[in-house]
Amino acid sequence: MRKCFALSIALHLPSRLCIQAIVSSIDCLISLIGASNMALTSSPALIDIQNNEMFIKEDQNDMRFRTRINKIKVGRIELGDVTPHNIKLLRRLNQVIFPVSYNDKFYKDVLEAGELAKLAYYNDIVVGAVCCRIDTSENSRRLYIMTLGCLAPYRRLGIGSEMVEHVLQIVEKDGSLDSIFLHVQVNNEGAIDFYKRFGFEIVETKEHYYKRIEPADAHVLQKTLRISQSLKSNGEQ
Ligand SMILES: CC(C)(COP(=O)(O)OP(=O)(O)OC[C@H]1O[C@@H](n2cnc3c(N)ncnc32)[C@H](O)[C@@H]1OP(=O)(O)O)[C@@H](O)C(=O)NCCC(=O)NCCS
Repeated sequence: MRKCFALSIALHLPSRLCIQAIVSSIDCLISLIGASNMALTSSPALIDIQNNEMFIKEDQNDMRFRTRINKIKVGRIELGDVTPHNIKLLRRLNQVIFPVSYNDKFYKDVLEAGELAKLAYYNDIVVGAVCCRIDTSENSRRLYIMTLGCLAPYRRLGIGSEMVEHVLQIVEKDGSLDSIFLHVQVNNEGAIDFYKRFGFEIVETKEHYYKRIEPADAHVLQKTLRISQSLKSNGEQ
């Protein structure tokens, strides 16, 4: 903030919301996220950057005047490989994000998963990960999302979407997968809403799927890519 020079942004909003806010360049906005949620500007306007959204309010003392004016994506999201050097980070992330713990075999397999396992970085900080495998049961070739998650403070910033987009690119490139599926705890409404945005549907509910967590029931979420060869041939008979 100190280093940046001021740039006046005239916000031509209707009536009393016509405020001139002073911010000091997009770079400065980015640095503000790390330093503080609040950036004071010339009175009476205040820019409040929270959850990656920018607000302007007219009265610093009265949060009721907070007016959402724009949603800005200010962070840089990147995906990186899982390697023997960062596998411990993945293990730690999964311990924090998921109520289920994964064994050594899981991590051994992940190291060999190539593009099917990725770490998610937000402004160069590891904040999430996705781990998938190819499942060939039930006479079809499917992509199974074993884990996909990001740390709570970094949610709703598009990081989960970036990981799903990566998975969708894999299946598109592969061309021979019938569907993508995963399990979610039945009370995980946030994740269910999230996946529905990408065309996933609840296709089954498995009772007592989880061993040591409550609720123990899981929904199977699935996105169908194409009708499997086996089903096709069954239909043709
Ligand atoms: C589910 C999860 C991966 C979503 O990640 P995310 O980075 O927050 O997702 P995004 O920011 O890309 O969200 C995209 C959209 O999905 C929907 N969405 C995401 N989280 C949601 C929630 N908790 N409630 C409702 N809708 C939600 C929203 O429409 C959102 O768009 P918006 O923020 O513009 O409204 C994240 O909440 C998470 O890590 N949860 C814990 C792990 C988990 O349950 N994983 C699923 C089983 S593998």
